[in-house]
Amino acid sequence: MSGPAKTSPMTKHAGSVMKKNKPVNSLKPDSGKVLVAGADSAYEIRPGQSIELLKELHILTRDGKMNQDSRRKLKQVYHLYQFIEPLMQAAQHHTEQQQADITLVDHGAGKSYLGFILYDLYFKSRTGNSHIYGIETRDELVSRSQELATRLGFSGMSFLNLSVAQSINTDALPEKINIVTALHACNTATDDAIEFALKKKADYIVLVPCCQAEVAATLKKNKSAAIRSNPMSELWRHPLHTREFGSQLTNVLRCLQLEAHGYHVSVTELVGWEHSMKNELIIATNKNLPRQQARQRLTQVLESTGLESLQGRFFC
Ligand SMILES: C[S@@+](CC[C@H](N)C(=O)[O-])C[C@H]1O[C@@H](n2cnc3c(N)ncnc32)[C@H](O)[C@@H]1O
Repeated sequence: MSGPAKTSPMTKHAGSVMKKNKPVNSLKPDSGKVLVAGADSAYEIRPGQSIELLKELHILTRDGKMNQDSRRKLKQVYHLYQFIEPLMQAAQHHTEQQQADITLVDHGAGKSYLGFILYDLYFKSRTGNSHIYGIETRDELVSRSQELATRLGFSGMSFLNLSVAQSINTDALPEKINIVTALHACNTATDDAIEFALKKKADYIVLVPCCQAEVAATLKKNKSAAIRSNPMSELWRHPLHTREFGSQLTNVLRCLQLEAHGYHVSVTELVGWEHSMKNELIIATNKNLPRQQARQRLTQVLESTGLESLQGRFFC
C-alpha cells in the first residue's frame, strides 16, 4: 500500500482553494470556477461541485454568498480534504485493480459536512460502488442527511442512526472499510471510532479528537495517591492542568494504541484552524506491523499516571 503524498496542505490550500486578500464581489461563471464573494478573501468553488449542496449546507447563501460561520466551516473542511484526498487515492490504488471501490465511514457525522464534501469532490465523479457511511446518534440529523443525499442523487451515501460503539457490530456496514474518519466526535466516541477501525483493519484512520473527559476524570480520582508517590503528578495536580494534561495524554495513548496495532501514526496541527482549540489531526496508516514496544510503552504510561483501569479502553 502506498502512503499518502507528502504535499503541504496549507500550500496547496492557498493555491488551489483559497486566495487570500483578494476581495471578489461578483460571480464569474465564465472563468470555469465560481468565485464567491467574501469580506476579505475569495473561495473557489471547484468545477462540477454542487452549488445546491453548498447552499444546503449553508456554506453558500441563496444568492451565492458566504457568511462568517459558513466561511469558517468551508475553510476547515477544504483544509481537511487536502489531507484525506491522497488517502482516498492510495486506498483506491493499493490493490492490483485500478480504481477499486472504497468505503469510508465517518463517525459522529453531525450534519455530515465532511462526508458530503468528500462525496461531492471525490466520490461523485468515480464510477463503481464506492460508498460513504455517516454514523450519528441524532435521529433528525440522520434523516436530514439521508434526505439530502437522495435529493442530490448521491446514491453512494448512507446514514445510520447508531452510536459508534453500536456500529462496530452492525450488519448494515460492510466487512471491509478502507477509511475511518472521526471529526470532533464527542468524548469517547473517538476511542470507539478507533476500536471500530482496528476491528475493521481500516487502511487509514483520520481523527480530529474532541474533548475526552474519561482520562481527566480518572487522573482526578487517583490524584491523592499520585501526589504522594509520583513527582510527575505535578503535571496534573491543578484542576486546569488535570483537564489539559488529560486531553493531551488521551491523544498520546491513542497514538500508542494505534502503533501497537501496526499503524504508522502522524500527528499534525490543523494549521489555519484558528477558530477551534481542538486542532490536533491524527492520521494513522495501516502498515500491518504490530509494535510490541508501543504496547509496552502504553502499559508503562498507564501505570505511571495511575490509569491502569483504562487498559481496556486503549488496548482493544
Ligand atoms: C461536535 S459534532 C461534530 C460533527 C461533525 N463531525 C463535524 O465536525 O462537523 C459531534 C457529533 O457526534 C455525535 N455523537 C456524539 N457521540 C456519538 C456517538 N457515541 N456515536 C455517534 N455519534 C455521536 C453528536 O450527536 C454530534 O452530531
